[in-house]
Amino acid sequence: MLKVGVFGVGHLGKFHLNNWKELSDVELVGFYDPNDEMANQVSDKYQLKRFYDVESLIDACDAVDVVAPTNHHFAICESAIKKGKHVFVEKPLANTMDEARQLVTLTKESGVKLQTGHVERFNPAFLAIKDLSLNPMFIEVHRLAEFNPRGTEVSVILDLMIHDIDIILSIVKSDVKSISASGVAVMTETPDIANVRIEFNNGCVANLTSSRISMKKMRKIRLFQKDAYIGVDFLNKKTEIIKLKEPEDTNVFAFDIETTSGKKTIAMANPTVPEVNAIKEELLSFKNSILNNTRPVVSEIDGLMAMDVAHQILEKIGNNVIAQ
Ligand SMILES: NC(=O)c1ccc[n+]([C@@H]2O[C@H](COP(=O)([O-])OP(=O)(O)OC[C@H]3O[C@@H](n4cnc5c(N)ncnc54)[C@H](O)[C@@H]3O)[C@@H](O)[C@H]2O)c1
Repeated sequence: MLKVGVFGVGHLGKFHLNNWKELSDVELVGFYDPNDEMANQVSDKYQLKRFYDVESLIDACDAVDVVAPTNHHFAICESAIKKGKHVFVEKPLANTMDEARQLVTLTKESGVKLQTGHVERFNPAFLAIKDLSLNPMFIEVHRLAEFNPRGTEVSVILDLMIHDIDIILSIVKSDVKSISASGVAVMTETPDIANVRIEFNNGCVANLTSSRISMKKMRKIRLFQKDAYIGVDFLNKKTEIIKLKEPEDTNVFAFDIETTSGKKTIAMANPTVPEVNAIKEELLSFKNSILNNTRPVVSEIDGLMAMDVAHQILEKIGNNVIAQ
């Protein structure tokens, strides 16, 4: 039985509680949240023990789940890792690059498992393409959200775009060559909308747009590679593939087109999207990495790499930001 304690039971923390309760071989030992109103609600609804200090909850569990605001991630994670406890921590891994690097070093020294909460890796629409041979040369990404004051203590880059940065780094197996970016602080003190171009050493170019001041929502990534287009709709959980038809492609909608190099047959397919809950899936994956002693699917290194690119983007925007 894996004993788990949850730190922070606000908006996302409650989803984590619900999902931990559904996983087998897990005992929720309690939670810590300094906000009395939030804590009383949770104690009543979940019949779960409230701990009044961070250390006693860390001592009581095998694994901590950190769903507190980002500026509290480091202190809780540092203490837990030093006590040999496994850590699941929401994205972004930490508040500063220095903190993130320290967490990577501590995790390596202690040998515990650390998973970062880049939940889109477990989005069913993304899971549907994980076995495809992906080698995109052009990537177009849109992540648009309606305005919500929650999360606005950080820029749209660390709040929203970091999800897509992690997804792209997990697909493109090449180092970042250059980044250019622009952002505008429309409603808050930090960029609320941004456009970023990332060039990789292998020639791949990713063009990302993130906004938290949109009238409608969108979370889409489009991958273009030799002979194929792959679209992943994270919001509506749909995936589509349009590619040159190969002999093994049966039961697909196909049509012929004339090109300058002759007739080509195009196949269109919608891969089966698994019916899974992404948060439950990421917590299950974390649990399995502990029980089977395997590397977490989204490790501390992945968390650090996503932050590194996000911070490079913020530096570029520093020169280009237009505060209203
Ligand atoms: N993966 C995702 O898609 C996603 C989505 C939303 C938020 N997040 C991340 O989850 C974290 C929490 O976000 P949220 O939207 O739930 O915020 P929230 O403000 O709704 O909840 C945060 C809770 O943490 C509590 N808290 C404050 N200090 C604490 C401390 N030292 N220890 C424990 N709890 C503390 C607060 O009282 C509050 O109840 C942030 O890091 C955020 O970036 C991730």
